[in-house]
Amino acid sequence: MNIKDKIDRAKLPQHIAIIMDGNGRWAKGLGKLRVFGHKNGVSAVREVLEGAIEIGVPYLTLYAFSSENWNRPKLEVRALMELLISSLTKELKTFQQNGVKLKAIGNLNDLPDNIQKTLNDTMEATKENSKCTLTLALSYGSRTEILDATKRIADQVAQGTLKPEDITEDLFSQYLYTADIPDPDLMIRTSGEQRISNFLLWQLAYTELWFSAKMWPEFTRNDLFEAIFDYQSRERRFGKTSEQL
Ligand code: IPE
Ligand code: IPE
Ligand code: MG
Repeated sequence: MNIKDKIDRAKLPQHIAIIMDGNGRWAKGLGKLRVFGHKNGVSAVREVLEGAIEIGVPYLTLYAFSSENWNRPKLEVRALMELLISSLTKELKTFQQNGVKLKAIGNLNDLPDNIQKTLNDTMEATKENSKCTLTLALSYGSRTEILDATKRIADQVAQGTLKPEDITEDLFSQYLYTADIPDPDLMIRTSGEQRISNFLLWQLAYTELWFSAKMWPEFTRNDLFEAIFDYQSRERRFGKTSEQL
């Protein structure tokens, strides 16, 4: 029986978030430039998106570029931006065919104008799609996201339109970039690194974590299915005891 058939369709994670890591090391291992790894990472994105749709996962969030990634060599940053724009343009048709709604989270104003435009156009064109919401985290940093939310809430309190006692977890969540997206049930990171790297710090509070030793360009839909299968064997207790569940 293949791994996909072992998955219980009634207990699918509703939201999978992925830190796509290891492009550079994968390329280096082949004696190529880091950018070669990023190019091949795009095929893995396609694999995983198709896998998520095939099995019926409604939310997929991909960490594509962190706010800290701006500190990489200029040439690499530029190559990543170009790759992003060409992939978005190429994938629009598949988004439409597969019912994919595109979203983006992060400090989007810091992205080059042409990327902002392509992103906005793609989001607008796919906004009625409802099979899978694909969220790209771009120029994304979770601490900044939390600070932005805090500042906007503080502003409202200062203006008297919000009382401090009204600031609940639910309200705070509504001020994050992910306001209309449920918290991830499963977070995957490739490349053997086991850290969060400023990704969805608030939202991952009770997320199940799954780490793969594979570099991102090697990651396939079967790896995604394996992660989902493993997720289904876990007991999410949310602080309670086993007996209470
Ligand atoms: C992930 O791969 C892609 C981005 C962060 C943009 P890396 O580029 O981080 O690859 P490694 O971790 O250096 O191998
Ligand atoms: C995290 O990967 C960001 C993305 C995958 C986009 P990094 O490769 O930038 O993370 P660190 O620096 O190794 O923690
Ligand atoms: Mg990395």
